[in-house]
Amino acid sequence: MTDEQRVAVVTGSNRGLGLALARRLAQQSIHVIVTARSEGAADRVAGDLAREGLPASGHQLDITDAASVARLMADVGYLHGRLDVLVNNAAIAIDRGQLAAAADMEKVRATLEANIMGTWRCCTAAVPEMKKNGYGRIVNITSHMGTFAHMGPGSVAYRVSKAGVNALTCILAAELHPEGILVNAASPGKVETRLAYGKANHSPQEAADSLAWLATLPEDGPTGCLFHGHDLLPW
Ligand SMILES: NC(=O)c1ccc[n+]([C@@H]2O[C@H](COP(=O)([O-])OP(=O)(O)OC[C@H]3O[C@@H](n4cnc5c(N)ncnc54)[C@H](OP(=O)(O)O)[C@@H]3O)[C@@H](O)[C@H]2O)c1
Repeated sequence: MTDEQRVAVVTGSNRGLGLALARRLAQQSIHVIVTARSEGAADRVAGDLAREGLPASGHQLDITDAASVARLMADVGYLHGRLDVLVNNAAIAIDRGQLAAAADMEKVRATLEANIMGTWRCCTAAVPEMKKNGYGRIVNITSHMGTFAHMGPGSVAYRVSKAGVNALTCILAAELHPEGILVNAASPGKVETRLAYGKANHSPQEAADSLAWLATLPEDGPTGCLFHGHDLLPW
């Protein structure tokens, strides 16, 4: 790794959109830290990318576990001395069709813990490392299901969690812009992954190709915005 090489963490990058985003960023010569709940999975996927000639290493990460998040960021600081990009991709969708008025609160709690608290926890842990260099790009992967413009019944915990991620994105963006850290949200559309519901429109690689630009925005780039590909979406 050269002194100039940027370093990115992609959460949940052992499969699906996260893996595609990790590959896309590594193809831009960014050193990508592939993370997964299983350390073996993170190392295996990072090894696959390295065999493709891409700069990658693996690290265990469970975003619901504060100690796991702290260990990751401490190791990033120690091994790389910098963190330029955080893509908060990891999420769960476990309450398809669930109605708000009859919700299983255990599913709600688990969803909010992973999707909002996990994303938030990773941001707070990453920001000190980014502030050291006065540079950072945070991309929160959200969903059109969390936008007020598309709100409707079903999947209530997932919808509320992504609406929370959207609010967090706006607030962090306003706080961190003066520090040189740009925070945006990205909705990938319907992507062919395990999480997808119904007919998907894109492959993970197609979605990653149109969203990865948010991870390397110039200084005067947008912040606090919601994108689908290169298009601005209404919150
Ligand atoms: N697919 C779609 O159509 C679609 C549409 C809109 C938005 N999205 C968003 O896109 C993002 C990626 O989803 P995907 O479609 O690629 O889903 P996916 O294939 O199910 O992948 C989800 C990833 O998140 C990881 N993960 C889940 N809980 C975690 C935790 N507690 N700690 C760390 N990692 C965890 C999973 O790890 P394990 O392998 O260990 O389970 C997996 O790597 C999500 O934010 C999702 O909400 C997807």
